[in-house]
Amino acid sequence: MRAIVREEYGSPDVLELREIEKPVPGDGEVLVKVHAASVNTADLDYLRGRPVAARVASGISRPRSSRIGLDVAGRVEVVGRDVTTLGVGDDVWADLFDSGQGAFAEYVCAPETAFSPMPSGVTFEQAATVPHSGVLALQGLLGYGEINPGEKVLINGAGGCVGPFAVQLAKSFGAEVTGVDHGGKLELMRTAGADHLIDYTNEDFTTNGGRYDLILDIVDEHSVLYYRHSLAAGGRYVLVARRLTGFAQAFLVGAGVSMTSDKRMGTFMWRANRRADLELIKGLLENGKITPIIDRRFQLSEVPDALRYQEEGHARGKVVITM
Ligand SMILES: NC(=O)c1ccc[n+]([C@@H]2O[C@H](COP(=O)([O-])OP(=O)(O)OC[C@H]3O[C@@H](n4cnc5c(N)ncnc54)[C@H](OP(=O)(O)O)[C@@H]3O)[C@@H](O)[C@H]2O)c1
Repeated sequence: MRAIVREEYGSPDVLELREIEKPVPGDGEVLVKVHAASVNTADLDYLRGRPVAARVASGISRPRSSRIGLDVAGRVEVVGRDVTTLGVGDDVWADLFDSGQGAFAEYVCAPETAFSPMPSGVTFEQAATVPHSGVLALQGLLGYGEINPGEKVLINGAGGCVGPFAVQLAKSFGAEVTGVDHGGKLELMRTAGADHLIDYTNEDFTTNGGRYDLILDIVDEHSVLYYRHSLAAGGRYVLVARRLTGFAQAFLVGAGVSMTSDKRMGTFMWRANRRADLELIKGLLENGKITPIIDRRFQLSEVPDALRYQEEGHARGKVVITM
């Protein structure tokens, strides 16, 4: 089978399309024929080994696994012994973060527990955009409690991979949503359903007098204290941390703010591929409350170009790899 592999950290230039042996599922594993995968900013982190947090997860000096790619949607082709929840022909999706990655390939083999049944009524391409970024958006939004209808929610960095899902999820909970990103992403945030748009290159939302019940920060650029005065009484701030230092300051400084005021600020422990979250998102996809926004499709042999396209900031929606 054909797969994208790499032996070292680096730019998309270190990636190669190689013919490798098709895996045979062991006990409790399934072999899935990949129909689509998608690109996440996190793939670039694991490709480059930057920030440091990426090396903690995937190997300090060299990547532990040569395979890459988190998000996948496909059809079960072979089931190993003792597989009880999936059968041949089932359509499934997964974030392969905990299962050795490898979505950029014709087949993936992983424990059956890595995969869940795909939502009905969505294409493989649409499904492949969701597991990583959709779950991250959901866990971030609900990091400090449920969102009540009518609450004002601001998504900082709403035009990336996670942001459009965060906008749509917050809208599905009945929130009034403000999306913040640069001018080139305004149309994307509008399409996702944001009620208000802020171009951060023209306007600083922390000084314009706006107050929000929830700020989801996907940018990780400033201390939590920078955002404190943009929270309404009882408001929450949740950081989707990119850097270990960002995580640490949000955890520690946020705990200080939370203990000494009526506001809750901090970060959350991400759990990749959590079944309950995928189930909730599946329901929202099936009833049309969420619609994945796809910008562009690339073939498997074009994965390096797809990653460059993402890294250079051209993407206006998810970038999909088709087989
Ligand atoms: N904390 C965790 O547990 C955890 C788990 C998994 C992944 N992650 C990390 O979380 C991140 C996920 O975010 P993502 O995939 O959505 O990233 P992304 O695609 O890079 O999106 C971030 C968006 O923010 C915009 N932006 C940059 N500076 C801004 C500013 N000052 N104000 C407002 N917007 C700004 C970016 O626009 P530009 O085009 O200008 O850059 C981009 O559109 C990844 O880095 C991933 O590795 C964290």
